[in-house]
Amino acid sequence: MIALLLLSALLADPVSADFFQFNSLSNVSTYYFNYIYCHVWEGDCQPNQEDASQQVPTGGVWSWFSQDYTGMMTAWYCSLGQCCDSGDCRITNNLTALERDLQMKLHGQHLAQSVVLKAVQGFINNPESNKPLTLSFHGWSGTGKNYVARMVADNLYRDGVKSECVRLFIAPFHFPHTRLVDMYKGQLREAIRDMVLRCPQTLFIFDEAEKLHPGLIDAIKPYMDHYDNVDGVSYRRAIFLFLSNIGGAAINEVALDFWHSGQNREDIGMEDLEHRLRSESMDAEGGFAQSELMSGHLIDFFVPFLPLEYRHVKLCARDAYAARGVEPDEATLDEVAKAMLYVPKEEKLFSAQGCKSIPQRINFFLP
Ligand SMILES: *[C@@H]1O[C@H](CO)[C@@H](O)[C@H](O)[C@H]1NC(C)=O
Ligand SMILES: *[C@@H]1O[C@H](CO)[C@@H](O)[C@H](O)[C@H]1NC(C)=O
Repeated sequence: MIALLLLSALLADPVSADFFQFNSLSNVSTYYFNYIYCHVWEGDCQPNQEDASQQVPTGGVWSWFSQDYTGMMTAWYCSLGQCCDSGDCRITNNLTALERDLQMKLHGQHLAQSVVLKAVQGFINNPESNKPLTLSFHGWSGTGKNYVARMVADNLYRDGVKSECVRLFIAPFHFPHTRLVDMYKGQLREAIRDMVLRCPQTLFIFDEAEKLHPGLIDAIKPYMDHYDNVDGVSYRRAIFLFLSNIGGAAINEVALDFWHSGQNREDIGMEDLEHRLRSESMDAEGGFAQSELMSGHLIDFFVPFLPLEYRHVKLCARDAYAARGVEPDEATLDEVAKAMLYVPKEEKLFSAQGCKSIPQRINFFLP
């Protein structure tokens, strides 16, 4: 704080005028970090830092600075946990890592891989977009919906799902009682608004969204729409992910049809699924499906998760072993994969549990 006062005293007039318009610490810190980074430490100025540097006149002001003050300033800045060249350290937006994770760690989901990457990439590279990003993940349990949501959180935020900028809502856990829906509405709105005020880019994940009361969805719907702001708060830099099993049956049917007709699973296209998913989502029972969210076209992308086959389960098992530092042989992987239940009865093609609880299951097979 002392450093801050010193700093403002030292600054030339045009700067301090600008300076005091920034009345929140985090605004000040982002602003000054960019400035210091570019001018004092002579770091590489990223394009996104140019804005900040252009607003500050490049006079001799900073040459008055002794090393000590710069040190104090840095300490103060970093004590806020904001010491990063992207401006806000909580946000990492590492799209390269997201792409790599989707390709390497997610098995059997070529559609989710490309749709999620494209959607997130588009959103991040286009800060002027006029609407938050809303994605709806569909599929059976164990197919990777949660896993992908976690990947998004991990690669966009330094602290992943634990980040101050990420919030996970599990419908039956956070909003269990229908009779309390009015109270939940208020809480949910408050929670979202609060986070959007605290973070320049937020992520909200709704797990088991099929169990969300329609009233709750409709309560937060304005935040997902094309409004510039709601009560003076802008929600345009928010990402909403809805995870549900709605449409799971339709997805499985398509996958099974492809298999029966001898076609490659990788040839299943969005055009084969999106329409069915959309219509099934709207027909399905329950809140999320019946909410205006679906009918109002507020979902930007429907992301189908295909049912997983034996070979995918083996890949999941291999990953789970690798995470424990074990390199299993094929026979071990087969053993793990064989222990899962496969459906439908005749074809025995898809793992009923997907890759769910594979990390726990391998305990039984560990040497
Ligand atoms: C932070 O800065 C933005 C513009 O850069 C401004 O709209 C917002 O009101 C500021 N926040 C606070 C709390 O001052
Ligand atoms: C993104 O993540 C990769 C892999 O974790 C890492 O090597 C790279 O440095 C990161 N990029 C940025 C800009 O942080």
